[in-house]
Order: sequence, then C-alpha cells, then structure tokens
Amino acid sequence: MAKRAVVTGWGKCVPPTTLTNADLERLCDTNDQWIIERTGIQSRRISHVEGTDLAELAARRALACAGLQATDLDLIIVATCTPELLCPSVATMLQDRLGATEAAAFDLNAACSGFIYSTANVTGMIESGFAERVLVVGVEKLHVAMDYRDRATSILFGDGAGAVVYEATDSGAGVLSVDLGADGSKGGTMVVRAMGTRGDPYWGKPPEETRLHFEGQAVFKIAVQGIAASATRALERAGLDADEVDLVIPHQANARIIDSATRKLGIEPGRVFVNIENLGNTAAASIPIAIADAADAGRLEPGDMVVLTAFGGGITWGSVVMRWGDRVQPVGVHEGELEPTDATIWDLLESNLEFYAPLHADEPPVN
Ligand code: UT7
Repeated sequence: MAKRAVVTGWGKCVPPTTLTNADLERLCDTNDQWIIERTGIQSRRISHVEGTDLAELAARRALACAGLQATDLDLIIVATCTPELLCPSVATMLQDRLGATEAAAFDLNAACSGFIYSTANVTGMIESGFAERVLVVGVEKLHVAMDYRDRATSILFGDGAGAVVYEATDSGAGVLSVDLGADGSKGGTMVVRAMGTRGDPYWGKPPEETRLHFEGQAVFKIAVQGIAASATRALERAGLDADEVDLVIPHQANARIIDSATRKLGIEPGRVFVNIENLGNTAAASIPIAIADAADAGRLEPGDMVVLTAFGGGITWGSVVMRWGDRVQPVGVHEGELEPTDATIWDLLESNLEFYAPLHADEPPVN
C-alpha cells in the first residue's frame, strides 16, 4: 500500500499569563457579554518569552508523545506569520535547539491556514519518499501586532504553539486528501506590515504600520463560505460524506464562524472540536493546539475520520481529511516547562500600550 502521513505525536505550549475580557474592558469600549456572544472567547494568552521558546517546548512534548528522538526527524516545518526573526527561520533555530541534525527545516507563512499548508507539504514529501518523520509546529506571538485599544482586533487573538509529528505509514491510516487555495486579491482584509517579533517588537516602525489592519466582517463572511467549500472539496476527494466524519478540528477563529461553517457542511456541534474559550485565535498555532487538546481529552479514537480546516490572511484556505492512526495515548511525556514569570498582564502589555498610545491621543486614558 502507498505511504501516507499519519499523526503519531502531539504537544502544545501556551504561555501562562491571561488577558481576560475584564482586562479588555479597561482598555477599550467593549464588554464581556459582547465578546462571549460574538466570538466565544473569554481569555487569551500573552507570552513572556519568544515564540521560538513556545515552539521548542511544544516540539519536545510532541516528540516525547511520538516516542522519537530529534535525530529521527527528516524535516521540520514551522507555520507562523509572526516569526521571531525573518532570517534565520524559526524552523532552523528550532532544529539547532532540538539537535535535529538530520532534518531539513523551513518556515511557512499562510497565516491561519499555515498548519494545513504545512500538512499538505508533509503529505507530498512522505508520499514521494523524501521524508519519513516530520515535525510540524504552528506558533504565533500575535500580541506584538495588537493595538489593545482597538476593539476590532484586540478581543480575538492570542499567543501559543502546537506541534504534531507525522510519520510514514502503509497501514491505511493517514492523510487521505487535501484542498488548498488562495485569493490574493482579498489580501487587504488582514495586513501586518512590520516583521520580526524578537524582544522589543517596535524597532523603528510607526504604530500604524505595526498593528494588524483587519476587516472583521468581510473576513467573517469569506471565512464561513471558504471553510465550508474547502472542506466539502477535501471530503469529495477522499470519497466521503459529511456523515462519515467523526471529528472536525477547525481553525479557532471565532466560535460563530466555526458553528456556521460546520452547519453548512451538515456536521452538528457534537462532532466539532472547539477550544477557543481560553486561547482566542492563535492563527497558525490553533489547529495543532486543538489536535493536542482533542487527543488529550480522549476525543480521537483509532481509525476516526478527521477533518482539519482553516482560513486566514492572504487570503488562504485549506482542508485535510485524515484517518487517525493507532496512537491515542502518548508514548512518553516531556517534563520541561517554560521559564516561570511573575509578570502581570499589565507588565507584559506596558511597552505595547505605550507604543500604540499615539493612535489614541484623542480618547480617554486607560482606566
Ligand atoms: O483567523 C483569521 C480569520 N479571522 C476571523 O475570521 C475573524 C473574523 N471576524 C470576526 O470574528 C467578527 O467579524 C468580529 C468578532 C471581529 C466582529 O463581530 P461582528 O459580529 O462581525 O460584529 P460587527 O463588526 O458587525 O459589529 C456589531 C456591533 C457594532 O455596533 P452597531 O453598529 O451595531 O451599534 C459594532 O460597533 O458591535 C459593535 N462592536 C463591538 N462592541 C463591543 C464591534 N466590536 C465590538 C467590541 N465590543 N469589541
């Protein structure tokens, strides 16, 4: 039987400090009830370390889960639109930290669709025989692009990392089909002009260029249509109907987008995994974090038919249909933790609020 790419390990790393809806009420004209009703989000994480640190811990956890050493890897792909540096890539920094000396490594930017695009690459490389064991990490430190007094964006996004190990298998499990697409003509709906999130993110760029420009309503409509259409194409390619799907693990952009898109697909909420409540939208990290949470919560059984689907900046979209393999329990556990912090959310946001303050000179001060 032909080789396919199957998930054999998963891990995540989310930073400990939370930005709650109550915190946001102090920063902009919003309220807890509105945010929960419109997005399903109660809090998001703000990182005190670099994205590469989050990526490293998620990767070590995924490798332990798969029972692999870093030297077993042929390839590392990091999906991110907020790399710590533009060059070298996060993937090569990670390769060095892990000691994955046999692995090729590169970053991939397809915004929130990055994990799906990465999985499509892995699928091709495993099916062609180029790679046998691949680590894919989705990581974002989005808070540097957030103007926390802009209620259109500040409520949605958070930091985090998720990692998945794919291995070649001829068991019949693994990725069955892929759908990818893009429409650059709508790229203006989500734009971040600055680049590189290491340390002080605000090196010389003006705040209006650094913060996310986002047309929420336009994106919302495109997302609902795009996710449903892409997942439908991927299911058709796999020769499956929606009622044969055991679990959809969608990009966690907004609980209402997930609900509308999966209803269009004819898949009821009980077969959809949602963990947006305490993480917000973590862009390329959201699907691998959700895979880790779903696996750890016992939502994945051997042989389950799983659909991953995403939509994001670019604009880009993509879906993957996979038959889950035998691994539902981790082989091992990596015990490491992030360096602890006693910084409050206000400590972490201090330089951010100061940087974006000129854009709010005419508004009342933060309360
Ligand atoms: O991962 C990449 C993809 N990202 C996404 O897919 C996100 C897509 N977009 C969205 O999730 C939603 O469009 C938002 C959550 C950003 C906004 O939700 P919405 O339901 O589209 O709200 P809206 O923009 O239509 O605004 C409805 C009302 C307006 O007031 P009026 O005109 O009805 O009086 C807004 O001014 O809600 C007001 N509003 C807010 N109120 C409190 C808008 N933002 C807020 C807010 N807090 N943060």
